[in-house]
Amino acid sequence: MKRILSCMQPTNRLQLGNYLGALRNWVALQDEEGGKNECLYGVVDLHAITVPHNPLALAQATRETAAAYIAAGVDPKRSYIFVQSSVPAHCQLSWLFTTQTPMGWLNRMTQFKDKAGKNKEKASVGLYSYPILMAADILIYKATHVPVGEDQKQHLELARDIAGSFNEKFNSGKEFFIPPEPYIMGTATRVMSLRDGTQKMSKSAESDMTRINLTDDADTIANKIKKAKTDAGVVPHNDGECEGRPEAANLIGIYAALADQTKEQVMQEYGGQQFSGFKSALVDLSVAKLSPITSRMSELMSDSAEIDAILKAGAEKANELAKPTLEETIKLMGFWS
Ligand code: TYM
Repeated sequence: MKRILSCMQPTNRLQLGNYLGALRNWVALQDEEGGKNECLYGVVDLHAITVPHNPLALAQATRETAAAYIAAGVDPKRSYIFVQSSVPAHCQLSWLFTTQTPMGWLNRMTQFKDKAGKNKEKASVGLYSYPILMAADILIYKATHVPVGEDQKQHLELARDIAGSFNEKFNSGKEFFIPPEPYIMGTATRVMSLRDGTQKMSKSAESDMTRINLTDDADTIANKIKKAKTDAGVVPHNDGECEGRPEAANLIGIYAALADQTKEQVMQEYGGQQFSGFKSALVDLSVAKLSPITSRMSELMSDSAEIDAILKAGAEKANELAKPTLEETIKLMGFWS
């Protein structure tokens, strides 16, 4: 049996990249093999506080992230949806790993460099050690598969290294922690900003025009796509013509992912046309695919008691699964207990 685990941070609103790069695949894995996989999907609020956050907004953003999971098709009857902070074993395991992880491994993490920017001295220690908490999120459940977008690949490799080194040091090289497989699925593994095709679409980017949020209405989506950066050329016919045209390639990638087509199919249909026509088609497709999710999310958000009940049930299950792993780890490390 596969045990699937993945998480998102409740920072701002979820955007199209989160959906195409991860969430949509979570649903596919839940439904795979007649629903045999055991799936756990977390809202990682402890990660969200590694950058300045608004305490008045965190709980609501946590609910909204859970609502997006459900609206996109995660079924709380078949998958467990939980909030990271309601499972204390994540933090406990994270500290145990922190003491065992060489600084050199963290120094290699490019996401810290990107997020801390020039202000490295002012970034929190939590932002620096964040990938260790992420390793704990995964390893505490002995997850076998972790569906994520491409940007998380390096963190997954670190989780594999942490698992391997623990097994070596504390379990005579036998497998205790399972090195998780990154599951980078589909065609939209890296959705780029609508204003700069070299930057990842991100919920934390300053300008809202760079992304499509899962809460955007049809007019907002249309406006953002129509204003998306392109170049003076026409829609490319093939990969070769996408070279050096990251914005064009990105819009084609988004269209392909939303339409469940290959990029080649999209370029066959639209290659040689003006971007204005292609953008109109992309608006229609985006609205058709996203508006059911948006309206389901707002329905769910109007009944926070229902979301809270789902999260409570998810936390119970997650705590139950996490407990034995933590107890075993403590034993293997030789603690008095
Ligand atoms: P986060 O919250 O930034 O993103 C959640 C998921 O969305 C994917 N994603 C994208 N995929 C394609 N294109 C994009 N532009 C794009 N933007 C985001 C991410 O790859 C991710 O899969 N560190 C993680 C959260 C985390 C986690 C975990 C994930 C914490 N613990 C344990 C898996 C397992 C993060 O910041 O994701």
